Amino acid sequence: MLPKRAAGLWPGLTLRIGEDCDAMSRLAAEQVLRVVRARPAALLCLATGATPARTYERLVAAGRRHRALFRRVRVVTLDEWGGLSTRDPATCAAYLRQKFCGPLAIDGDRCARWRSRPRDAAREVRRMTAWLAEHGPIDLSVLGLGVNGHLGFNEPGSALHDGPHVARLSAASLRHAMLHSARRPVEFGLTLGIGDLCRSRAVLLLVSGAHKAKQLRRLLLGLVTPRFPASFLRLHGAVTICCDRAAAALLPEELSTCR
Ligand code: F6R
Repeated sequence: MLPKRAAGLWPGLTLRIGEDCDAMSRLAAEQVLRVVRARPAALLCLATGATPARTYERLVAAGRRHRALFRRVRVVTLDEWGGLSTRDPATCAAYLRQKFCGPLAIDGDRCARWRSRPRDAAREVRRMTAWLAEHGPIDLSVLGLGVNGHLGFNEPGSALHDGPHVARLSAASLRHAMLHSARRPVEFGLTLGIGDLCRSRAVLLLVSGAHKAKQLRRLLLGLVTPRFPASFLRLHGAVTICCDRAAAALLPEELSTCR
């Protein structure tokens, strides 16, 4: 069935709902594959965390079946836990190396990662800003929704940053499950900015689980405000949200029938 447009919400939005996390991940992987088939050297900006893990598994399986698919694809890591050693398995770089870039052999200058423990964080931000200026724009940003509405480490506040920056992490981010295995405390976040995400040619936001239902409802029905950074996606003209039934539980009936 064709994806149904969520009429009357915002013009650039396609909402797709899978029965469970696996079905959501299938829809999300299809979307990524559409992009890389159309643009073999696509630049993907990738989030880490629990939500996209199954999507990455599916993409790796597709890449193993069709070796040419990811041969030219480029990746930029959305964010990083600042202060962790580069050898710490809890880093976003380690996650993506293990779940995506490693199995698909995306490396060298096809893969831009934050250094988790830079000597000079401001310089690291300048490095990533320059990398994006040279290699961007991002073709597809694959994002997860924070329990506090953050995207990457664009945390709720009175204003948001446009470009790559050092973030003061919220208490909610510091409780993120990825950090349970961290070998030392995280000191700050390193992240692309909300402007970088809004300048992506397309955005794919994944939302899974009942604990994200309130946030998804707020994103779809609430106001655009830096207090809820994901709301800035409402200003983007090409956003696909793939969610599962549990995350869609609080949506109005007319939206919860989207497939
Ligand atoms: C991680 C990131 C974060 C997560 C968000 C949701 O790279 O960018 O913004 O996407 O915190 O995390 P999960 O998917 O673990 O619920």
